[in-house]
Amino acid sequence: MKTTYGRIIIVLCLAFALLAAGAVAWAAPKRAAKARPGDCAACHGAEKVFPAEHAATKDMAYDGCLECHAGTGKESLRTRIPSGHIHQLRGITCEKCHGKTKQQEALKMDQCITCHGDTEKLAEKTSGVKPTNPHTSPHYGTGLDCNVCHHQHEKSENFCSQCHKFDFVVP
Ligand code: HEC
Ligand code: HEC
Ligand code: HEC
Ligand code: HEC
Ligand code: HEC
Ligand code: HEC
Repeated sequence: MKTTYGRIIIVLCLAFALLAAGAVAWAAPKRAAKARPGDCAACHGAEKVFPAEHAATKDMAYDGCLECHAGTGKESLRTRIPSGHIHQLRGITCEKCHGKTKQQEALKMDQCITCHGDTEKLAEKTSGVKPTNPHTSPHYGTGLDCNVCHHQHEKSENFCSQCHKFDFVVP
């Protein structure tokens, strides 16, 4: 009897070990604050983030990416990797956005403005964007929260498209 139970327990243990290993292989990417931003595998593990034979990016910063992914067109990385990644590749670490903390919380827009300058100047910068300037509108002036469009940890969104047919590509 005892040995049968022993075997059952061993089999169960093995099954759990395999399940646990599977869970690690398929785990969601980690937000490892100390990882180099070009070292995709440090956070994504075995997940495939590149097409086959992509250039090695481990030690690369955004300038390096721009050699092949320049402009704002199809080859650009805008919207293809989260905006937080683009910031990090430009040397804007977790800490520069979130401050010195272990438990990061969602940011207030003031934090964006400390680096990007006041919202009227920002609106001037994009005054030529068609079909209309995303940084100013009759409804919200220049005061609309950056975070309703530009997300740092998920795909950005076109807030205006709830009501308008503006085909913005939000970085
Ligand atoms: C030597 C040229 C080169 C460099 C440098 C380069 N890439 Fe790429 N990358 C490519 C090519 C070519 C493709 C495949 C075509 C495409 O999807 O644009 C690609 C595809 C990608 C994709 C896949 C997009 C998708 O939709 O599947 C991502 C993400 C990406 N690169 C990110 C980066 C990042 C981040 C860097 C810098 C750390 C970088 N690349 C540096 C050439 C390069
Ligand atoms: C450019 C600024 C910026 C950078 C860089 C950045 N974050 Fe964030 N983070 C945000 C914003 C904004 C939010 C609010 C949610 C959103 O818009 O994605 C957020 C939300 C979070 C949250 C809590 C809410 C949630 O969405 O889970 C955590 C945890 C977090 N960030 C961790 C990190 C870590 C760790 C890094 C570095 C690997 C990092 N962030 C880099 C701006 C940033
Ligand atoms: C510590 C400084 C810093 C903070 C905080 C910061 N940024 Fe940035 N951001 C930069 C720098 C530097 C660049 C690259 C140069 C540029 O385009 O101005 C950049 C680039 C961008 C871009 C252009 C990305 C592209 O594809 O070219 C957007 C959009 C942006 N930031 C939005 C935000 C938003 C929204 C927040 C707040 C959640 C924020 N930033 C917080 C420094 C910062
Ligand atoms: C209604 C959506 C929306 C909101 C809200 C928004 N943006 Fe943008 N932003 C965009 C779009 C769309 C672009 C791309 C414009 C283009 O096509 O060049 C952009 C571009 C940018 C750029 C790159 C500008 C350049 O061409 O160099 C920066 C930096 C930026 N936004 C920062 C911010 C900050 C900071 C805030 C908050 C004060 C903010 N945005 C609020 C939609 C928005
Ligand atoms: C510091 C850890 C970290 C590094 C380094 C990192 N990523 Fe990510 N990545 C994440 C996290 C976490 C998410 C989920 C969204 C978020 O929280 O920002 C993500 C999301 C993505 C996404 C959106 C789709 C998805 O799988 O969720 C793409 C594409 C991506 N990363 C590509 C890359 C590429 C390419 C590199 C290397 C050039 C890279 N990442 C480096 C942590 C990282
Ligand atoms: C909740 C719905 C809603 C949202 C969200 C919204 N709008 Fe509007 N907008 C309207 C309505 C309704 C009008 C007035 C009718 C019209 O002229 O289309 C209007 C009118 C306008 C006008 C003047 C008329 C025109 O079409 O030239 C502009 C410019 C405009 N919106 C820009 C924006 C921008 C930029 C955003 C995103 C930051 C935005 N709107 C978000 C509903 C909305």
